Amino acid sequence: MTTTALADTARAIVAAGKGVLAADETPRTLTQRLAARTIQSTAETRRAYREMFFTTPGISEFIGGVILQDETIHQRSSTGTPLVDLLAQEGITPGIKVDNGARPLAGSPGERVTEGLDGLRDRLVAYREMGARFAKWRAVILIGEGLPTAGCVNANAHGLARYAALCQEQGLVPIVEPEVLMDGAHTIDRSEQVTGLTGRVLQAVFDALFEQNVSLEGMLLKPNMVIAGQHCERQASVEEVATATLRTLSRHVPPAVPAIVFLSGGQDHLLATKHLGAINQVGGPKPWKLSYSYGRALQDEALEVWDGRSENVPAGQHAFYHRAKCDSAAALGSYRTEMESEAASA
Ligand code: 13P
Repeated sequence: MTTTALADTARAIVAAGKGVLAADETPRTLTQRLAARTIQSTAETRRAYREMFFTTPGISEFIGGVILQDETIHQRSSTGTPLVDLLAQEGITPGIKVDNGARPLAGSPGERVTEGLDGLRDRLVAYREMGARFAKWRAVILIGEGLPTAGCVNANAHGLARYAALCQEQGLVPIVEPEVLMDGAHTIDRSEQVTGLTGRVLQAVFDALFEQNVSLEGMLLKPNMVIAGQHCERQASVEEVATATLRTLSRHVPPAVPAIVFLSGGQDHLLATKHLGAINQVGGPKPWKLSYSYGRALQDEALEVWDGRSENVPAGQHAFYHRAKCDSAAALGSYRTEMESEAASA
């Protein structure tokens, strides 16, 4: 596949007003989310849950790509169509999570490195045959006393770059996800320092991508927003988050990258929408599209409404449609808080 074709795929995923639904929780993580609402987790309930999102009427207006998990890419809808084909029929690009998760980094207590490079080329070939056109690999960076270390940042950057190069070799657009976690009590300033300047997370990632000959036009970046830790006493305002996030990205992300699709990272869904809206509304150069690749922030309301019951699927889909519509407006810079009540009652 040519680099032009990869760039076309990347741009299609984030075409005007579109973002990504991250529906790639592992069965273990999804089981925890379902258990928190006393919903039984079986391959069948997980399939029914995914199907609710994928068959939401009109959702392709706002969702250009869906990240699947290995279990889901093998599943079929209730009418027997492979879920991956269901998405493709709606004009939604199917993607696949290909990392094997973050494991303790030897020699660096408290830090983790994402694994999964062994055998990755073969897995990418198989996933492409099944219909996937993009992939995701998530690295996590923890802020703490003396953390992150350069060893952790560089090991994760190297993994992301090796993965991205393999994806492009096999004709898949890599979503490169270095996530500086919201866990902890750090301030927004510390988040900015780690994501950008002193922690060098983004810089290390782009250095590694350059070294591994990754085409920036044929990838998407999925970073955290610059935000205070969830236990920090002073939570930054929406405008502060927007300004600090944009400032950090403009220092480290080359304009050749077509789009930045943020993760929600544990933010409340409404705040995730507001932050994205503000990022697109504050002044300053924005050479890339700024959109979303949310997991929890797109799904939480629908999960609550659905509650594991088939009769609640239309209400769950309504909640998902509403959130995706608001996030889409935020990506276009036209989000207003009043949309919450307008769209909800539509
Ligand atoms: P959240 O938006 O829930 O953080 O999930 C996005 C994601 O894909 C994390 O890897």
